[in-house]
Amino acid sequence: TPASLKAIRGPAFTFKDNPFLAKDALHYEEDALILISDGRILSFGAYAGQHSSLPPDLEIAHYPDGLISAGFIDCHVHYPQLQMIGAYGEQLLAWLERYVFPTERRFSSPTHAAEVACLFLRALLRAGTTTAAVYCTVHPQSVEAFFAESARFNTRMVAGKVLMDRHAPPELLDTVETGYAQSKALIERWHGQGRQLYAVTPRFAPSCSPAQLDVAASLLQLRQGLFMQTHLAENEAEVAWVKELFPEAKSYLDVYQRAGLVGPRAILGHAIHVGEGELCTCHATGAALAHCPTSNLFLGSGLFRLFDAIDPRRPVRVGLGTDIGAGTSLSQLQSLNEAYKVAQLTGHALSASQGFWLATRGAAEALYLQDHVGTLAAGQEADIVILDPGATALSNFRRDHCDTIDQLLFMLMTLGDDRMIKATYVNGQPVYDRDRLEPFVYP
Ligand code: GUN
Ligand code: ZN
Repeated sequence: TPASLKAIRGPAFTFKDNPFLAKDALHYEEDALILISDGRILSFGAYAGQHSSLPPDLEIAHYPDGLISAGFIDCHVHYPQLQMIGAYGEQLLAWLERYVFPTERRFSSPTHAAEVACLFLRALLRAGTTTAAVYCTVHPQSVEAFFAESARFNTRMVAGKVLMDRHAPPELLDTVETGYAQSKALIERWHGQGRQLYAVTPRFAPSCSPAQLDVAASLLQLRQGLFMQTHLAENEAEVAWVKELFPEAKSYLDVYQRAGLVGPRAILGHAIHVGEGELCTCHATGAALAHCPTSNLFLGSGLFRLFDAIDPRRPVRVGLGTDIGAGTSLSQLQSLNEAYKVAQLTGHALSASQGFWLATRGAAEALYLQDHVGTLAAGQEADIVILDPGATALSNFRRDHCDTIDQLLFMLMTLGDDRMIKATYVNGQPVYDRDRLEPFVYP
């Protein structure tokens, strides 16, 4: 047996199609075997057909009571805001002033940044999330700390330094020049370094001068495959402010589009208060939206119209985001719980397959990473999560009354949180096991 060959066995699900478009999109195997070599999936299929041809000394991690999935993907999250999750009483703009900016100021300290990055990465893995699009702060040290920790776990992460040169406390502002120079240095150091990927990160239109938005666009030209992440039309007062600040723009999205920021690998957070024209632009350019239901409900921002966004006549790429610290959980199961309710309030029922697709393969497509992560299939990077449907007394009881995989998945997306994550594998390595004395190990 080649030293690196190993296997994971148990009930498993993944996607062979988009469940918003196709009926039988979910692929469920009651007893699956996943063969892994050099961090990649060699094969995925029924154990029954394969066990006779397996090397006798093959190491198999068997989870007969688990449910195996591709690792979850979080399309929008702020790691520095972990420490102010659940801050009381404000909507977006006042919440930024009162809670976010004071918290982010502390990331000028590299030790503070390293401490929080370490905690954050572990919290993600504990929630079963193996890839995320992450906002750091304006300080380049915050990005350095994050990528250094991600490189230790070898997680596939997208992250970047926040660009903001106005409308925040002076200690949190960069300039057109420093924003460019610091981002460029971070791109050269981290983009494509192992599994790390860089996102040019103008915070949102109100915090960036037009000149800084132009600079963000020129940063995107520096290397192939760079991402762009920002916020779009999250809150009504914010939208009105953008109208005042950019009177010449035809819409909120037009501010970014004029600057040359909208295209493939652009990830726009929220997009609640957008019109048909903006959705058409996203469709035509290949930009993606990050749906962050726990955040949108917590800040009272509004209801994202998911089923409008993915309308098959002009589908927009959509992935799921937690948006910590406005979001209230790092668990994508909790995001799905709230996504279902937001869909209900907008007249649609989000199925379990559709939900889990948004947290895995759909998110991978939104990020143009579908050739790397998001499914259990030969050739994919082996980022794998083992769910435990019997993790709590209630879910264990409820599981016995689920007759189909769809019912079981829907139970998980309603009752689930990080307790349901038994183990997480990154690039084929077991980095987290809930029941180990020391749950986390660097590979
Ligand atoms: N808009 C600009 N910055 C932020 C942020 O940090 N969080 C959220 N939810 N919205 C934003
Ligand atoms: Zn955000």
